[in-house]
Amino acid sequence: MTNVSIKNLTKIYQGSTVPSLKSLSLEINSGTLTSILGPSGCGKTTTLKIIAGLINQTSGDVAFDGKSVLKVKPEKRGAVMVFQNHLLFPYMNIYENVGFGLRMRNLNKAEINKKIYEMLKLVQLPNIENRMPKELSGGEQQRVALARALIVQPKVLLLDEPLSNLDNHLRIEMRNLIKDLQKKFAITTIFVTHDQEEAVEISDQIALVLNGKLEQFDKPENFFKRPANMKTARFFGCKNFISGTLKNNKFISSIGEFYLPKDLPINGGFLIFRPENIQIGKDDKNMNTMKVKVIERIFLGKQTRLKLAIKDEIFEATFNPYEVKNLIEGNDIYINIPPSCLWTIKN
Ligand SMILES: Nc1ncnc2c1ncn2[C@@H]1O[C@H](COP(=O)(O)OP(=O)(O)OP(=O)(O)O)[C@@H](O)[C@H]1O
Ligand SMILES: [Mg+2]
Repeated sequence: MTNVSIKNLTKIYQGSTVPSLKSLSLEINSGTLTSILGPSGCGKTTTLKIIAGLINQTSGDVAFDGKSVLKVKPEKRGAVMVFQNHLLFPYMNIYENVGFGLRMRNLNKAEINKKIYEMLKLVQLPNIENRMPKELSGGEQQRVALARALIVQPKVLLLDEPLSNLDNHLRIEMRNLIKDLQKKFAITTIFVTHDQEEAVEISDQIALVLNGKLEQFDKPENFFKRPANMKTARFFGCKNFISGTLKNNKFISSIGEFYLPKDLPINGGFLIFRPENIQIGKDDKNMNTMKVKVIERIFLGKQTRLKLAIKDEIFEATFNPYEVKNLIEGNDIYINIPPSCLWTIKN
């Protein structure tokens, strides 16, 4: 069980003038799964490599259980990294690949043998120990890579986009497997992904990093309910931002007044609401009801997206297709946004 504490981590690669990481700080509790989420080039792999000790930071600190590990050699840190691309040793068979970390630790042969078979069973790949990596599918190779990392019972498991090469079905299966194994072994895990949905499903907490800067570090649901700023809200699919001012417990805007949730911190600027939280109303008798015009409808399969206009504001709403099957472009409708689905941000 290991707490990981990252403090003001900054990285400027040699020859570069812009930092790839800008004073990143995270407190990660023992036994939890934290995702570092962000688009390509935002500094995810850089962060993992510094934690693993594979590259140096420019400034800042990384501590395991309160003790800085920056001067500890990578192989002594107890952190194991599963890389984004280089999965398995191509010249070793699966048995040798999985047992690699244990052989380095000089365990006796019988013990290593038992652990390899146990681990291959856990990742649901029995009977493949004699095959070479190139004789496995991409998904099977990723499971072997996971087994090879878990077998040494690391204090900290660092997974760099381990599911990026898989099809959708296998990704979901592997996500569940990672979550199950991570819980079973209670390993503090940092999981890197650029896929928002994946991060939400797998994580206890998510660190959203954009351009090397931490934008929000929070439970998955708070990125939807309580985004810290507009960039965070946008990354998580929120499209509706209305400018205005706060007065008592109401948000005053050019399209009307909105009652806010009672526990909302005063946080002026923009009112935001998610497309899926808009409801269709019958009339304007409810709280936070507006008459809007349907200007576009797009069928997305599981949902139908409507673009709605009121005065100069245009916003998006998504509905169950059956709920809006009779609506056409040009229709006027009432919509309603419950106060509990509203949130305000400064920028
Ligand atoms: N060795 C290096 N020398 C110079 N710049 C580097 C080096 N490695 C990474 N960078 C730069 O640092 C930034 C962060 O890179 P990093 O590999 O951490 O991104 P990432 O979030 O893992 O992206 P991806 O999702 O594409 O893997 C990028 O702009 C990248 O070009
Ligand atoms: Mg990367």
